Amino acid sequence: MTANTPHIPDLSAFWMPFTANRQFKSAPRLLVSANGMYYKTDDGREVLDGTSGLWCVNAGHGREPIVRAIQQQAAQMDYAPTFQMGHPLAFEAARKVADLMPEGLDRIFFANSGSEAMDTALKIALAYHRARGDAQRTRFIGRERGYHGVGFGGISVGGIAGNRKTFSSALLSGVDHLPHTYNAEEMAFTRGQPLWGAHLADELERLVVLHDASTIAAVVVEPLAGSTGVLVPPQGYLERLRAICSKHGILLIFDEVITAFGRLGAATAAERFGVTPDLLTMAKAINNAAVPMGAVAASRTIHDTVVDSGAAGAIELFHGYTYSAHPLAAAAAIATLDLYREEKLFERANEMAPLFEEAAHGVRNAPHVKDVRNLGLVAGIELVPRPDAPGARAYEVFLKCLEKGVMVRYTGDILAFSPPLIISADEIARIFDTVRSVLAEVQ
Ligand SMILES: Cc1ncc(COP(=O)(O)O)c(C=O)c1O
Repeated sequence: MTANTPHIPDLSAFWMPFTANRQFKSAPRLLVSANGMYYKTDDGREVLDGTSGLWCVNAGHGREPIVRAIQQQAAQMDYAPTFQMGHPLAFEAARKVADLMPEGLDRIFFANSGSEAMDTALKIALAYHRARGDAQRTRFIGRERGYHGVGFGGISVGGIAGNRKTFSSALLSGVDHLPHTYNAEEMAFTRGQPLWGAHLADELERLVVLHDASTIAAVVVEPLAGSTGVLVPPQGYLERLRAICSKHGILLIFDEVITAFGRLGAATAAERFGVTPDLLTMAKAINNAAVPMGAVAASRTIHDTVVDSGAAGAIELFHGYTYSAHPLAAAAAIATLDLYREEKLFERANEMAPLFEEAAHGVRNAPHVKDVRNLGLVAGIELVPRPDAPGARAYEVFLKCLEKGVMVRYTGDILAFSPPLIISADEIARIFDTVRSVLAEVQ
């Protein structure tokens, strides 16, 4: 992997997302093919995918039924609009997604990414309250350390400082935040859901007193926060948030962009935790990330309230994307959701979870490790930061793991693991053995 790779002579034109562009381009890391659990680099090395790409390739790479579905659809009909027109796969994909959602969340609005799904959910929340004649409910409550993509809506309700500060003057107004749920003293090295922390949901009651319930449209949380570094919800926390929202007529939005489609051993985190939101955003694994796609599942009540409030013949919701339910994305979604079912991949994730947990916590006594946390096929390993160089240690671990043929992800000084649900026991062991040996090497 060198800057002089013959078939990629010039790296300058691509302004890379969420990347240290100058650093990357001085020593690029290029992936050129993928199959099953493995990527191949431009210099021909196999790399075990410990992160499902970006938490999205849940069925593993290059799966034949998905590839075939996309190829066939591209040949049959490349594109069709879904504004005042339709195509059958859009409806079929929506049905299949709806069938996996919690009971009652069976109206599906398609977008093209998690960020767009979040903007869509926020807009639907406003449209719902307005349609009910409650148009003053415009405030959103997000949570510290939440990641909801990079649209202005998502960064406003999101709680990751670095994603907000440059744009702070342009954030949505009227947004407040709950405290995040992490407390190292109370929960370091917890396996699964921490016992401590349900009371943090009561902070919502405080915000309700401050702003008055009548001004609050929705509360938005990731049921398990991923991008901030794997924060598993305390036992009882989501249940309490649900109860408080219901009590005050506030909608609850779950951002399930990384948790939906098997990551936690169930179709959704909502199912896993037994807590049903009013709106649920998803993307990524919805079609194994083979074609960009995001979606919002809305409750029947929300959908019917908005749709029935429109005048006959009038568009009810002034929102949508040129590529909403793009034929290739829809074909990929149908094939993916069938594949998940046929191979029982959500159940498989659940079966592999104890082994994954054991292997992740096996790194506990390695140098620099401050915490290990996990649920389903997600784990986070938090490292002690180097003095005056936050993130540097985790970056080095990431690089050294890659050299040893294992791709992990890091945010700040937290390593995150979210492998495809087809991972074998040996591959789980290899990921964490590699991390342990690298931690012994780095300063
Ligand atoms: C919880 C969550 N929401 C939203 C997003 C944004 O998704 P996208 O990058 O597809 O816009 C992500 C991406 O990682 C995410 O993890």
